[in-house]
Amino acid sequence: MNFAPEFLDEIRSRIRVSEIVGKRIKLLKRGNEFLAVCPFHNDTKPSLSIVDDKNFYHCFACGAHGDIIKFTMETEGLNFPETVEKLAAIAGLEMPSQTPEMRLREKRRKTLKDVNEEACKFYEELLWSSVGQDGLFYLKNRGLSENVIKKYRLGFSLGGRHSLKDAMRQKGIDLSLLAEAGLVRVSEQNREHYDYFRNRVMFPISDRRGQVIAFGARTIGESQPKYLNSPETPLFQKGRILYGISQARESSSQQKKIIVTEGYMDVIALAEAGIANAVAPLGTALTEDQINELWRLGKEPFICFDGDEAGLRAAVRAADRALPILKPGHSLCFSMLPPGEDPDDLIKRLGIEAFKDVLTRSISLADFIWDQEFRKRQTNTPERLADFFKRIRGKVKEISDRGVQEAYKDYTEQKIRQVREHLNGFKNTTWGKKSNSGYKEWNRRDLLDSGSSKINTSNVMAMRQKQTILAAFINHPGLIEDFGEALGYLDFVDPFLDKLRLDILDITSMAQGLEVRDIQDHLSQRGYDKEVGGILNSSVLRHAAFARSNASEALAKSGVRELLARIGKYQLEEQLSAAQKVVEEEFNEINWNRLTSLRAALVAVNDSSNVEDVL
Ligand code: UTP
Ligand code: MN
Repeated sequence: MNFAPEFLDEIRSRIRVSEIVGKRIKLLKRGNEFLAVCPFHNDTKPSLSIVDDKNFYHCFACGAHGDIIKFTMETEGLNFPETVEKLAAIAGLEMPSQTPEMRLREKRRKTLKDVNEEACKFYEELLWSSVGQDGLFYLKNRGLSENVIKKYRLGFSLGGRHSLKDAMRQKGIDLSLLAEAGLVRVSEQNREHYDYFRNRVMFPISDRRGQVIAFGARTIGESQPKYLNSPETPLFQKGRILYGISQARESSSQQKKIIVTEGYMDVIALAEAGIANAVAPLGTALTEDQINELWRLGKEPFICFDGDEAGLRAAVRAADRALPILKPGHSLCFSMLPPGEDPDDLIKRLGIEAFKDVLTRSISLADFIWDQEFRKRQTNTPERLADFFKRIRGKVKEISDRGVQEAYKDYTEQKIRQVREHLNGFKNTTWGKKSNSGYKEWNRRDLLDSGSSKINTSNVMAMRQKQTILAAFINHPGLIEDFGEALGYLDFVDPFLDKLRLDILDITSMAQGLEVRDIQDHLSQRGYDKEVGGILNSSVLRHAAFARSNASEALAKSGVRELLARIGKYQLEEQLSAAQKVVEEEFNEINWNRLTSLRAALVAVNDSSNVEDVL
């Protein structure tokens, strides 16, 4: 009896080798591995090594080697189908039934793969041909090199309704197969088959072994939706696949750090910048299957979603999905991006270093959950505080692995205790002093809202925003009427930028109706030539059309309004994390109250601003 390799893979990925071996013999933990006395030869020493990460066991004495299937067959005397059946039950998987229809379906799956492969080749060839030059131009314009375009097998679909259909028919591929693969659809009006993907750049989606099973397709024009994905087919279930998985598998063995982004272009932009181990779900929330798949590549994948409300929501959902299935050593890290950014934008604007900077600020799942609960609500009355504690404890209860749940319990109870100690006047704690216990030190560092300082906007990014604001005021002096007051309230921290800010305010308030040239003259008189040149340069203005001199007043206004709101929020976050440090160093009522009121202000800003939604 034949089982699909995917089915066997799925079984292997769901059950740890140590779980199966451990049922029969005693295991000793050694780092990432387990050792045991080998059951396949006569021994007293533990020569059998079990490596869960690699899904195998190996005996250094007798050479016995295999996976869970082999182990079960050999130790339990079952044949192959019986073993698969038994393991499938443990894994909670339904056995593929082997009726003739099922066998046919299996065959069809294989045929469907062939169809997808043919289509992929066809789209690829078009991209590199003269009729596909719009597609190639689009991709190159987005900064992609030929290497990366080829590595991800990007392609192009033409505008006509029969281009793929005709080409595939010529190769002898059935219409019904094309329809089943989601590549053509049937028109409601004349029952005619037509190409599903038209005038789009094509992103082939492959399974973990690199076989194409579906497509994502981005419009290069205005047509909606922006991305069109293959419908679900017998091969393609969105929730089970991650875009970029096969390329990431190839590279992750060296880098081990797997990065989860939101979009196709993020994965590709990272590859372009030399990070090939990024993947993306396909426009849906991360599923348990996907999280398990990630864990096969690396123990602590980075969730790196867009810095908007939707991205945060998706990250929270991923955290919620991960909790019940956490296992020792496996978790998620969270590296949220600055507001309004995705990895692709960020890398393009500020370079790969800025992105890596974001990664280094990532926080653990435990802290992320704490932060999200903490940020969501006020904790300035006993009832509210109790509610917060209750919710955090509720989250911990969702973890089904006993060991992980225990560790989470210890961790959060410690944090809760410390918050309470703060509130109790904070007498006997070790905050701000070097503690002699590593455990306490670890907790102290992550006390309270540990994320805000790390999740924060990256510094480079913040600098750009400030420069952009100043550029807008220099190019549109009239803005001072509406926004002068807001500009006055900003505090740029950076001494040079802050002085320039004050001087711009000063100059514009001296005389109404200044022309752009006037203001530049004034600044020049005050010795700002070089600096103003730096601010009005193309790299600052490239991504901020509203700040350019040729932007309409209305555009400039709305852009500045948005950016001010964003900077204001960022500034609040900066102040909040500073206030936290102060509280850690010296706890007193004044410092604590300042922290609480800043937090309240941030909650208010987050609630009221739709800044991110606009973008
Ligand atoms: P985004 O809207 O964030 O797009 O969607 P993006 O990745 O930044 O795309 P570019 O940079 O404009 O090309 C994130 C992901 O959500 C899914 C896609 O998987 C996309 O990569 N999506 C988005 C869709 O499936 N359909 C859509 O219409 C939009
Ligand atoms: Mn993007």
